[in-house]
Amino acid sequence: MIADLIIKNIGKLATCKSDETKSKKDMSNIEMIEDAYISIKDGKFISIGSKDDYHSMIDEKTEVVDANGLLVTPGLIDSHTHLVHGGSRENEFYKKLLGVSYIDILKQGGGILSTVNATKISTKEELYDKAKKSLDRMLEFGVTTVEAKSGYGLELDTEIKQLEVAKELDNDHPIDLVHTYLGAHAIPLEYRENHDEFIFKILEDMKKIKELDLAEFCDVFCEDSVFSIEESELILKKAKECGYKLKIHADEIVSLGGAELSAKLGCISADHLMAASEDGIKMMAKENVVANILPATSFNLNKSYANARKMIDLGVRVAISSDYNPGSCPSENLQFAMQLGCLGLKMTPNEVLNAVTINASYCIDRQYEIGSIEVGKRADFVIFDSPNIEYLMYHFGINHVDRVYKDGKLVV
Ligand code: NIG
Ligand code: FE
Repeated sequence: MIADLIIKNIGKLATCKSDETKSKKDMSNIEMIEDAYISIKDGKFISIGSKDDYHSMIDEKTEVVDANGLLVTPGLIDSHTHLVHGGSRENEFYKKLLGVSYIDILKQGGGILSTVNATKISTKEELYDKAKKSLDRMLEFGVTTVEAKSGYGLELDTEIKQLEVAKELDNDHPIDLVHTYLGAHAIPLEYRENHDEFIFKILEDMKKIKELDLAEFCDVFCEDSVFSIEESELILKKAKECGYKLKIHADEIVSLGGAELSAKLGCISADHLMAASEDGIKMMAKENVVANILPATSFNLNKSYANARKMIDLGVRVAISSDYNPGSCPSENLQFAMQLGCLGLKMTPNEVLNAVTINASYCIDRQYEIGSIEVGKRADFVIFDSPNIEYLMYHFGINHVDRVYKDGKLVV
């Protein structure tokens, strides 16, 4: 077959190919081909090999690009973000430094609720422009797919506005978006004494959002003083009936049993998990729930890191994502989250690379399409100005990207 594009002279090709038959504990393994090439046709990988075995795939139209001996990986996947929102929260930054907690700021009507106000008064164009700027940054850092949650409306019109902006960006921007409805992100002040009434509204809204085909996943912020285990269970069960795939913000601050609930309900992922119990982790392993860990949030909130080592040892598939949002993690830099994967979560560089590629693809149910460099998968990949995987994690705080390709097209 004649290729549209060949990348030759790849020093190290980390395919991140997953072997489904292998134990999930084997996250530290990465297939590495030295002195490699990849060839692409119609936006998909058509062959992967070593040295210069690609000559039969070239004609006068084929573009041949020299990777100059650098490292190539699959496009990075940011599988947990709150991409579309109005405003920013630097006004809370100093309060936080003085020790006022994230939940106390929320209880005072700040935090998520202040972003809800800013999102409500933003026009669609303003939300689009702001989120586009973030996506441009993410792409520069090597991210080719992003999960984007709503959750800064807490009423139907604004939730729809956020999700529609995300859909438009999915069409217009090289990054692919995966859409999540997070109507249960906080309790508005006026419903503080009447959770049931607010939850009833969410159950109505989720049906309409599904009818409009605006979201594939439904998520809940299950946390002390936000949505209880019982409330989260009710919301997620109804979401499943409506046809959503499930996610949950679980055991971020208090050990409530969110990990256990994720397993009971068959969530695709449970996210945060800094305070997850050992039993909950075991249940997640049994039910194949992906643990989506957000180390840049631990860093920014000055909290402990999730026990990734235990999760890996117990056979849980671990992913890492940025959690980009205006409160607990105002940074689009997934490479920094990866570096914290080593420095904070004590994962190995290979484990971290798997966590932001193949394992992140499982988090968004795209494991057969993206997340690894394999024949038939979409040609999303990054050339890093880095000799090996270790260097990416060790030389921290900078952007290592040399070039980014999405669906076989050069985008950075
Ligand atoms: O994942 N924890 C809840 N939601 C977000 C934070 C959102 C915000 O603070 O605006 C998170 O950390
Ligand atoms: Fe989040």
